[in-house]
Amino acid sequence: WPRTATRVGGEITIGGVGVTELAREHGTPLYVIDEADFRARARDYRLAFNDADVYYAGKALLTKAVARWVAEEGLKLDVCSGGELAVALAADFPPERIGMHGNNKSEAELARAVEAGVGRIIVDSFDEIDRLERVAAERGRVPEVLVRVTTGVEAHTHEFVATAHDDQKFGLAMSNGAASEAVRRLLASEHVRLVGLHSHIGSQIFDTAGFEVAARRLSTFLTKIHAEHGVFLPELDLGGGLGIAYLAEDDPLEPKTIAESLTSIVAHECAAQNLPMPRIAVEPGRAVAGPAGVTLYEVGTVKDVEGIRTYVSVDGGMSDNIRTALYGAEYTCVLASRHSDAEPMLSRLVGKHCESGDIVVRDLYLPSDLRPGDLVAVAATGAYCHSMASNYNHLPRPAVVAVREGASRTLVRRETEEDLLRLDVG
Ligand code: LLP
Repeated sequence: WPRTATRVGGEITIGGVGVTELAREHGTPLYVIDEADFRARARDYRLAFNDADVYYAGKALLTKAVARWVAEEGLKLDVCSGGELAVALAADFPPERIGMHGNNKSEAELARAVEAGVGRIIVDSFDEIDRLERVAAERGRVPEVLVRVTTGVEAHTHEFVATAHDDQKFGLAMSNGAASEAVRRLLASEHVRLVGLHSHIGSQIFDTAGFEVAARRLSTFLTKIHAEHGVFLPELDLGGGLGIAYLAEDDPLEPKTIAESLTSIVAHECAAQNLPMPRIAVEPGRAVAGPAGVTLYEVGTVKDVEGIRTYVSVDGGMSDNIRTALYGAEYTCVLASRHSDAEPMLSRLVGKHCESGDIVVRDLYLPSDLRPGDLVAVAATGAYCHSMASNYNHLPRPAVVAVREGASRTLVRRETEEDLLRLDVG
């Protein structure tokens, strides 16, 4: 839950605003972001990684206001598409503090990044090296790049979000020499300047071991590059991936713990080879945005399937939170608009889409006096819910509102049916 979430007279308030008022003013479903909590988490990372660059990964949640919070808290920004870059630039995010990712950046995306003066482009393939050289040469610019290296680490997380084992689409592998070849080509290029290495092992990770192995392998690679080419690459970006608590029993790593362990590994490996300490970067997304967000839904039907469980249908579902259907994600959800002492009943929180996989929370207990019109709140939905939302079944996407010091304001307005129809020009 966001740090400011509390119960007042039975009702949950976030950022000093009650859920009933939020629902009345903005409608439901509603993404509610606790601005103070988001900023505090961003700041915690920046302070923990004192001498390192902290890029907030915009894929978790990005709006113009979010980009401004990130800038104001002194972080950098990771974008991974032309669209995310457009939001950052529209928010006047300083381009030199942006890192541009993506395993298939188009020529237009690269051109936009180069023209905008994006600080780092993270190169992911040989085709991209060619494309970027062409784009940069045509514009007479020399962009600074990192090469994304696949370290072979098997992160202990869901298959769809593990990214450092060899059999997946990202990066250039250390194991088969592709990463070394990319380094050779980038060092020889006059159109780009290679300044470092990048690795991202996966997402929703609770244990330092995978990060440590990746840090060690990247450091070794750095020293090998120095030995072979006589070039010291001054930056090591270790990506994002820190897990958050979706359930009470989840035990996330503290930013300080991971900062200390990564810094000491890299320092040790480089000192052993008489190399200076490279500048470290990390890219937390979920860990900054996730806990700061809550989704509010209104209960529409409460259906007791005799002897099995109660199905509680809300006014959104897999279009505003695909994570349960896609990854088997688990969430904490409570009755938010009032207090209830009624017996807990085994429930499943489901949406209004036309398939039975449309589950928001698979197993949970809700009070047995739950009724239509009640508001329920699902915690830790700040990351990868709005950013992965769809219009399945032509549901308009919910609004995103920020709450702070007793006031709420709309960051992204709710879509309307007209918005959807406007695009249908056939
Ligand atoms: N850096 C890179 C290069 C990434 O690919 C990602 C996430 C991050 C940083 C941020 O990772 P985080 O700190 O948020 O774990 N949709 C999935 C997560 C996909 C993550 C993709 N890349 C989910 O909802 O769990």
